[in-house]
Parts: sequence; C-alpha cells; structure tokens
Amino acid sequence: MSNKIYIFDTTLRDGEQVPGCQLNTIEKIEIAKELELLGVDVIEAGFPVSSPGDFKSVVEISKAVFEPTICALTRAVENDIKVAAESLKYAKRGRIHTGIGASDYHIKYKFNSTREKILERGIAAVKYAKKYVEDIEFYCEDAGRADNEFLAKMVEAVIKAGATVVNIPDTTGYCLPDQYGAKIKYLMENVKGVEKAIISVHCHNDLGMATANTLAGLMNGARQAEVTINGIGERAGNTSLEEVALTLQTHKNLNLQTQINTKRIYPLSRLVSNLMRMPVQPNKAIVGRNAFAHSSGIHQDGVLKNRDNYEIIDPEDVGVKQSSIILTARSGRAALKHQLSAMGLSFDKSELDKIYERFLRMADSKRDFSEEDVKALVGSKNDSLKIKILNAQIMSGNPNAPMAKVELEYLNEKHIETAIGNGPVDAAINAIRKIIIKKDVKLEEFFIQAMTRGSNDIGKVHMQLADSKNNIAYGFGSDTDIVFASLKAYVDGLNKMLYK
Ligand code: KIV
Ligand code: ZN
Repeated sequence: MSNKIYIFDTTLRDGEQVPGCQLNTIEKIEIAKELELLGVDVIEAGFPVSSPGDFKSVVEISKAVFEPTICALTRAVENDIKVAAESLKYAKRGRIHTGIGASDYHIKYKFNSTREKILERGIAAVKYAKKYVEDIEFYCEDAGRADNEFLAKMVEAVIKAGATVVNIPDTTGYCLPDQYGAKIKYLMENVKGVEKAIISVHCHNDLGMATANTLAGLMNGARQAEVTINGIGERAGNTSLEEVALTLQTHKNLNLQTQINTKRIYPLSRLVSNLMRMPVQPNKAIVGRNAFAHSSGIHQDGVLKNRDNYEIIDPEDVGVKQSSIILTARSGRAALKHQLSAMGLSFDKSELDKIYERFLRMADSKRDFSEEDVKALVGSKNDSLKIKILNAQIMSGNPNAPMAKVELEYLNEKHIETAIGNGPVDAAINAIRKIIIKKDVKLEEFFIQAMTRGSNDIGKVHMQLADSKNNIAYGFGSDTDIVFASLKAYVDGLNKMLYK
C-alpha cells in the first residue's frame, strides 16, 4: 500500500457552512488558488444544487485551478448529480461526491427507510454519477455511528458499482480514536475489493477528537484525509489541515507523507480567517497567535538557550517568521534581557537586576507588557517613536457615516486629517492612511478582546499588518475606548513595520 496521503480540502464546502462565514465567488477563487499552491490534492468547491452561488463557484474554481481535482457534493439524488456534473464541465479533473446515511439513526429517522432500500439508492447514485465522470467519491454519512457489518456491505457495494473513493465520515464527531481506527481496520480487512478504492476519513470535532480520529484512520489504512483550514466547519468544526500535515511531518516514523508545502500554511490560515471574518482562537495548534509565543520564565529561559527545549515545530516551517517571547509577571531576567537587546539596549548585570526589580513591580499590575512599557521602565520616553497619536475625535453615526479626525505627529511634524469609514475604526484608520501613505501596508488581522465583563472594561486590540513583501508586524493597544485602543494598535504596528 502506498504511503502517500491525499489531502482533500473542504474549507469551501463543509467549512463554509459556518453561520455568518459565507464567501462570494471571488473570495472562493482566491482561497482555491492558494490551496492549489499549498499542494492539496482535491478541493471540494461546493454543493452545486444548493444555490446558484454555489453552482457558479464550482464553475469558476474549475476554470481557475488546474492541479487539484475539483470535487462537487451531491445527495444520492439524480438531479443533484446532474447539476454537479454540469458545474464541473470546465474542470481538468472533476469528481462527484455523492452519498447517503449509513447509520440506523439516519436510515430510520432521516429517510424513514430500511438498510436494503438505502443500499439500493447508494448503488444507483454511483452508477448514475459514473455516466458523467470517472472519479466518484461515495460518503457513508454518519459512518461513525453505523453498524460496522452494514457499513462494510455498503462500502463493498459502492466500490463494485464504480466508486473510486469511499468516505467514512464521523459526521457527529462521536467516535473515540481507537473506535474510529478499528472501524477503518475492519473495513480494510472485511470489504472485498477494498484495494480498488481509496478509503477516506472525514471527522468532525464535537468532542475535540477530529485530528486524533483522522490520524487513527490513516494509521489503519485510510489514504485520504478530509480537512479544512483552521479546522473551520459546522458546529465544532472539521479536522484541521494544518494539524494533520504537521503531525505527519513531525512523526516521521508513521511513514505517511502529504505533498503539502507547509510554509504556506500560516498565510493561508490568515486569508481564510479574514475572508470568513472568523478569528483564529489564540491557542489554536499551529496557527494560533500564541502557538509560538512563550510567556513563563522557565520556558522563556529554555527556549532562548535552545529552541528545541520547548518547540517541536520550527515556526518557519509553517510560515511564521519566528517564535516570540511575551513579557509577563512570570518572565525571568533572560526574557527581559532578550527584549531589551531586541530594542537595541544592553545593560550590565547590576543595572539589569535593578531594571528587573522595577519590571516585577510593574508587571504585577499589568496583564501584558508592551515595548512602550519596557521603554518606560528603562527611563527612555516615547521620543524615539516616529508616529505618535496626539489627538483623535471619533464620531459613530447612523444613518450618517462614522467620521474620525486624527492628529498625529509623524516624523516630527504635526498632521491633522479627517476621514469617513464603514465604522469608527475604519474611519480612524482611513484618516491615518491619508497622513501616512503606504499603500502596500495592509491590515491582515484585527482581534478585539474585553478583559473583564463590565461596560467600563478595558479593551485589548491585537492587529497584524503585512506589506507586499510579506513582512509582518504586530500592533497592540489597550484602552477603555475600544476605538482608541484600535488606533493605538494600528499606530504601534505601523511604527514597528516602518521604523524597526
Ligand atoms: O460530515 C459529513 O458527513 C459530510 C458529508 C456530506 C461528506 O460532510
Ligand atoms: Zn462533514
């Protein structure tokens, strides 16, 4: 059996089912092209019969993307299959993904049917789809809760009818890794003709086990993994592409390989997050903001001595420039010294000891320690900053557009500009952009967090800026006024991006 694992990306189909995260066709094409560069084998581009928009997206992605197979989802319904086939007519390699429920829950309560009738419908769907394209994937929906003997019967029958790939979804995210692994093993050992098709794993994350289940399936003979970027998807989401790719890369002894260019993972994660307006949780494995950030003294000291002490993945392998050291009350001297030298400041041991004592007193009353705080600590003021906010007046409005008047000191001169925007933050940023004209600097990520719960709470804003050469700068701001916190974060990011 080959050791190649095919990566089937369903960000644009299962991932896009997240409420409020719908994409238009242009956005989908942008993501599909990046998925192609990432090296995925299959892109599930949509469910064409579900809406004219989905139909159009499959057509346009088929025209724009050439390397991966383009796949369209259907139910085991002739019209769905016919429409899917039409939508794939420009695809260099097209696949129809059809299927039906395999668990008794679905058979009885969704279809009000019997195992025999459902089996017939599945076989008929494959035969019908085969009239249009050669490559047919069949999904046995809710296979995670299906009886293994019946499931084996279904898999055998659809392979005999012409399915080239059979998908065993844990639709409800119910399985434990050893159960799911055993299910795949059972199919590999009991389905006659199983070697004629690829067995695919498609796991949902309702119990937080999607990646573990996917790996258990691959270790037991499945050779295709169905995944999404950032693990997005209905309810608790799908298996995340980055977790599977990096686990296989990290655990080489599994001897399973994908053709994913892992260095493209992080930028694509941010593209998907921005286009879907779905922030990545900070502690998300591989792509979360904190995935390579070290904040406790013991870890910081260890990682500064040798990265391997606390990092199993080189951040550059996933497209993150470097790991970061975050100063908190738990940081030690090593981290403070590291931060000071990153700012071009060096001190002898006794000076450093004094600064460290002041740092500990200050850090106790703060959650985060910004570069500005460190400067205050060592006695230098803001004077070195090239961009400083002097004043800002922001008016939210409805029906009138929000407006901002921002006064900046920029390269030692005062500038005042006003601008409107689609919201107060947008208006303020537009005013800054009128003063600092750097067209290639884009706001890539914008994350607002309240620290406690009251309406008098302090808001924290993190921003990620990037330029056309993919240089990245992180800006941070906090204030009781969330718009002002955003402004501070943007200016902080600009100072770092333009004058570091
Ligand atoms: O989770 C699932 O069962 C699915 C199928 C439609 C493949 O997404
Ligand atoms: Zn699914």
